[in-house]
Amino acid sequence: MRLKIGQAIIVVISSSIMAKQVLKKQDLAFSTRFIPNVVQTKNYSNFYVVWLPVCPQWRTIRRILNTNIFSYKRLDENQHLRSQKVEELIAYCEKCSQQGEALNVGHVAFKIIINMLSNTLFSKDLVDHLSDSKVELKDAIDGFIHEAGKINLVDFFPILEKIDPPRIRYHGNIYIGKLFKLFDDLINERLEEKKTNHDEKSDVLEALLNHSAQNPKEMDQNHIKSMFLNLIVGGTDTSTITLEWAMAEILRQPEIMKKAQAELAQVVGKGKPIEEVDVSRLPYLQFIVKETLRMHPLSPLLGSRVLVNVWAIGQDSIFWEDPLDFELIPFGAGQRICPDLTLALRMVQVMLGSMLNSFNWKLESGIHEPKDLDMKEKFALMILAKTHPLRAIPSPL
Ligand code: HEM
Repeated sequence: MRLKIGQAIIVVISSSIMAKQVLKKQDLAFSTRFIPNVVQTKNYSNFYVVWLPVCPQWRTIRRILNTNIFSYKRLDENQHLRSQKVEELIAYCEKCSQQGEALNVGHVAFKIIINMLSNTLFSKDLVDHLSDSKVELKDAIDGFIHEAGKINLVDFFPILEKIDPPRIRYHGNIYIGKLFKLFDDLINERLEEKKTNHDEKSDVLEALLNHSAQNPKEMDQNHIKSMFLNLIVGGTDTSTITLEWAMAEILRQPEIMKKAQAELAQVVGKGKPIEEVDVSRLPYLQFIVKETLRMHPLSPLLGSRVLVNVWAIGQDSIFWEDPLDFELIPFGAGQRICPDLTLALRMVQVMLGSMLNSFNWKLESGIHEPKDLDMKEKFALMILAKTHPLRAIPSPL
């Protein structure tokens, strides 16, 4: 399908054969992204990996990300920073279980995931997972994604740039400013700490500061800040919503919960905590997450002006007749594939497995038949999320 809006031509692809051509065989030709006007000020898109064209700078950042953050070795080294957060998740569920209270799966998952990421990045919690209060950081992240996801007339009629008609760029900059201030504070705090304490931390900030000290021309504080912005913004809602969809599918089909719990009991032991290394021995848990990503791809449209309709391809059984053998593209493909898919899968699988291995789950009262659970999707924040938040009650196994 070909659309012309203002001065922009957009092509939508809904077949897996064409998607392979665009994302894999010809990916170099299609991998440069259109930079939305909302991120063009403050020159920050120059350091933001998502919007960089395929150029030496983008390659350098991807290399730094791969070596310092997403290699299996690095992820294994800082696994302990995330497992503490899984324990906190289970303790919180335990409290709800004792009181027979429902929990909002998305809210809890957001707080745990952002702290998993922030511990991997800075060895620090960014939010209080026990507090029910509004999370200012979530507002800033959602606010930024919301502005970036709006249809902006300036992107189609560049002549309007100076006017910034619905003030999308103006609002976007306020959120970026808040997040940059947070990252600046964290970086400066660590630089101060390093003056007196010479112990090395195993987190990403330490690795990036070391890299920057050795290669000052390649990376400075602005690069580090933009990377953090990209990782926190790109990593939190995506992983949270995947976990919420997986739990919703499980609650709607209780036989899946039973099967997953049987596998967990056999491989890890009933009620025991799950480590990231255990996941490779839990094929059924992996299939649940893979199937969730097929049915509910987070970014249903991949690309910028040539859009690959991942949602339509995932729904077309010609391409995935055998659930164990289909090529999954919710993380993209080719050069621009999500660099953090290993971390994302580790977080989602370990959290989901731990929740199932420690509790039975049922829907909040009011929904009598699991199959009646409302699974409506909404396209918000550039992501396909659940319209109605999932509320579920944990109980002892
Ligand atoms: C279930 C969770 C996630 C999903 C479904 C997901 C999906 C995606 C998709 C579809 C893309 C675009 C790929 C393309 O255009 O071909 C992408 C890019 C990206 N993602 Fe993820 N992602 C997830 C989690 C994460 C996490 C946890 C992080 C960071 C901590 C992250 C960081 C990034 C970055 C930096 C890019 C840009 C890569 C580039 O342009 O070179 N993502 N992700």
